[in-house]
Amino acid sequence: MVGLTAWSLTGAALILLLLPPSLEDCAHIRVSTPIVRLGDPVTASCTINQTCSSLGPESQIVWKLEAELQPGGKQQHLPNGAQESTITLPHLNHPRALLSCCLLWRGSLQILDQAELQAGYPPVVPSNLSCLMNLTTNSLFCQWEPGPDSYLSTSFTLKSFKSRENCQTPMGSIPDCMAEDRQSHCSIPRKHLQLYQYMGIWVQAKNALGTSKSSQLCLSPIDVVKLEPPTLGALYPSPRKDPPQPECLQLHWETWKPSLYMEQKCELRHQPQLGEAHWTVVSPLPSTVPGYELCGLLPSTVYILQIRCIRWPLPGYWSNWSPILKLVTGQQAPTVRLDTWWRQRQRDPRTVDMQLLWKPVPLQENSRQIQGYLVSWQPLNQSREARVLCNTTKLTCTFSLPSEVREVVLVAYNTGGTSPPTRVVFLENRGPPLTGLHTVARDPHSLWVGWDLPIPQPQGYVIEWGLGPHLHGDNNKTWRLEHNGSITGTLLQENIRPFQLCEITVTSLYQDAVGPSQNIYAYSLEMAPSHAPELQLKHIGSTWAQLEWTPHTPELGESPLTNYAIFWTNAQDQSFSTILNASSHDFVLHGLEPASLYHVRLMAASQAWTINSTSLTLITLASEDSLMHILLGLIGLLFLFICLCAVSCFCCRPSRKNPLWPSIPDPAHSSLGSWVPVIKAEEIFQLPRLRDPVMPPITKITVLEEEENKPEPWESNDDSGNYNLPTLAPGLCTPG
Ligand SMILES: *[C@@H]1O[C@H](CO)[C@@H](O)[C@H](O)[C@H]1NC(C)=O
Ligand SMILES: *[C@@H]1O[C@H](CO)[C@@H](O)[C@H](O)[C@H]1NC(C)=O
Ligand SMILES: *[C@@H]1O[C@H](CO)[C@@H](O)[C@H](O)[C@H]1NC(C)=O
Ligand SMILES: *[C@@H]1O[C@H](CO)[C@@H](O)[C@H](O)[C@H]1NC(C)=O
Ligand SMILES: *[C@@H]1O[C@H](CO)[C@@H](O)[C@H](O)[C@H]1NC(C)=O
Ligand SMILES: *[C@@H]1O[C@H](CO)[C@@H](O)[C@H](O)[C@H]1NC(C)=O
Ligand SMILES: *[C@@H]1O[C@H](CO)[C@@H](O)[C@H](O)[C@H]1NC(C)=O
Ligand SMILES: *[C@@H]1O[C@H](CO)[C@@H](O)[C@H](O)[C@H]1NC(C)=O
Ligand SMILES: *[C@@H]1O[C@H](CO)[C@@H](O)[C@H](O)[C@H]1NC(C)=O
Repeated sequence: MVGLTAWSLTGAALILLLLPPSLEDCAHIRVSTPIVRLGDPVTASCTINQTCSSLGPESQIVWKLEAELQPGGKQQHLPNGAQESTITLPHLNHPRALLSCCLLWRGSLQILDQAELQAGYPPVVPSNLSCLMNLTTNSLFCQWEPGPDSYLSTSFTLKSFKSRENCQTPMGSIPDCMAEDRQSHCSIPRKHLQLYQYMGIWVQAKNALGTSKSSQLCLSPIDVVKLEPPTLGALYPSPRKDPPQPECLQLHWETWKPSLYMEQKCELRHQPQLGEAHWTVVSPLPSTVPGYELCGLLPSTVYILQIRCIRWPLPGYWSNWSPILKLVTGQQAPTVRLDTWWRQRQRDPRTVDMQLLWKPVPLQENSRQIQGYLVSWQPLNQSREARVLCNTTKLTCTFSLPSEVREVVLVAYNTGGTSPPTRVVFLENRGPPLTGLHTVARDPHSLWVGWDLPIPQPQGYVIEWGLGPHLHGDNNKTWRLEHNGSITGTLLQENIRPFQLCEITVTSLYQDAVGPSQNIYAYSLEMAPSHAPELQLKHIGSTWAQLEWTPHTPELGESPLTNYAIFWTNAQDQSFSTILNASSHDFVLHGLEPASLYHVRLMAASQAWTINSTSLTLITLASEDSLMHILLGLIGLLFLFICLCAVSCFCCRPSRKNPLWPSIPDPAHSSLGSWVPVIKAEEIFQLPRLRDPVMPPITKITVLEEEENKPEPWESNDDSGNYNLPTLAPGLCTPG
């Protein structure tokens, strides 16, 4: 049973075919009304013919709506022996549904008969009925809004009658116009109409549940005429004016032929084909003009134009807009300011080579249409014609001039004419120089160049920049004219590349002179130098080491050093560091451990980079205490030797009397305190050897071993003269 409910309608139909032929006519469904309003009840009965002997007398009739079993059927025997089941479906909620009468036969459910039920709504009143007279098809075309779906097949009929002005009394019939299926418009052909006679029109909607009527229109077909637009075109060339005005377009249009007899007015609309343009409407215009000049437009701009017409002053409807016409307005003479700059080179005493550079700065929107530039020179003799030096589309031109010529004239031209002439005066180079030129890198592709405001204040500045120094020649430099003399810097954003040296030249411009050009070199992004200054060991002691280095000479455009830093680590990997200013070139490390190994590194830093030197390894001298022990030992041995000599002399030559006594030194010299300077002397006497100019410079690793530092000849140290060791020997001999 459960499986059965899932059967599709086709499945059910198949069963109907499989039934024994004798069963086919056995049952018959009758429905109270096959079409009802949605949600209304439906009553149906199913009768089984008594002649159907193959069915048992007590067969159970079952009802199904679509695939769902419907309980509530009441079954009874009719007097004629037939069986009948009656069911009432309380709400029919589907626009269409199949009701089936079934029987349990040989263990399965068999469909005996089916009936289609329909539900829907009566038609809604059609709204917005409107009509227009189409002279192309020669028919009155009416359309309306049919309203929401009634779910039932609905027919729309346009009904009308001829009448007087108020459409109250019909004066002649017009055949109905049946709208095609699912269409909500209908056309009444001209043969049923009288163009100038009033008629009442309405639309009627009808379906199985009812009929509805729209409100009635009262019109005369000619009053709702909708014309076709006229044909719009351009008039070339302008018949009257030569040359054509750049802000005007020459147009003509012709009314639609079938409407020639009608009085009409037209309107033209146009808009420039630019981003956010709006339509401008010109109205009223006649329906036919041989030529029309539309002015007040932007020069060299594409315009879109359309035209439409209406029967007028009598009633009618506006025609559609004509197809789009695109036209371009003429060119206007360039309205530009030309910024100029020049470079000159004396070729020989009588001739200079000039390179004139310029830049058009548009003074109005849409004024950039320039086809070329003319540079000319007006000889001093006014009666001669100006000489054209260049006729070019580029922004630069090179020419030779007699030395005395200090002025040329530059104009920009296009088909509309030439711009106002720009006088270029080659000013003398005698203004005050610009000071304090500096640069700041903003990002890898821009540089700020700044300067001190000169006194007197210039009228402007020319900034030229390019890969430097002179890498691509002067010809490939970017330049800019700044018209504000009170600025003290400007941002350069074009033609700046990281890691490439940029040469910047700034020239100040005065009323009748230019200042001398000032150059500066800079990087927008700088690479660190390939190596840092190398550390060299100059002197070393047991607790200190003196280091020196040759400062790196900065190259063009390189950022100056901001500081140095020295890092040193001992054998226990303890790190120390100190920061030195950029003018330092040596440093003494203090507080080192005697006889220890140190790694030292120099870091040089600028605003743009830091770089480390290679590591220098050094070993400090052994401590002063151990040296003193050795010295004391040596002196002890000497003393013993002298004493032995003395004893042997005394013993072998008893006649001699203390020959040594008279040379006994001052007791102050024999005190132990006087030994301390002696140790200092030890230290110092090693230095001469290190200072020795012939000694090779100590570079990477310097291992200064104690043995190597054995005392050198005394003479080399002048200061050690105060401490003459041999003179001490007698003092030591002083018996205590
Ligand atoms: C019953 O069947 C007979 C013979 O098949 C037929 O003539 C008669 O019309 C049927 N009656 C009904 C109510 O279907
Ligand atoms: C009927 O026409 C009016 C005015 O033209 C419009 O506002 C309204 O939306 C239209 N109704 C329908 C159902 O289209
Ligand atoms: C008149 O009918 C024709 C044919 O359907 C159509 O092409 C034309 O646009 C209609 N004219 C107007 C003014 O609606
Ligand atoms: C100007 O040119 C004319 C014609 O070439 C010549 O006659 C005249 O002498 C010239 N004047 C000067 C001042 O050069
Ligand atoms: C400049 O060159 C253009 C195009 O080559 C030419 O049409 C124009 O006549 C020239 N102008 C002058 C003044 O030589
Ligand atoms: C000028 O500079 C551009 C890049 O700015 C370069 O591509 C070009 O080769 C240079 N031209 C000359 C002649 O140096
Ligand atoms: C010129 O530059 C100065 C300083 O940047 C500024 O205050 C002034 O408004 C500028 N003048 C003009 C006309 O732009
Ligand atoms: C840099 O340091 C040295 C030694 O420490 C000092 O003599 C010098 O005055 C310093 N220079 C500056 C500019 O601070
Ligand atoms: C240089 O060495 C110091 C100490 O080893 C380190 O802190 C610093 O990051 C190094 N700098 C560079 C640029 O390698």
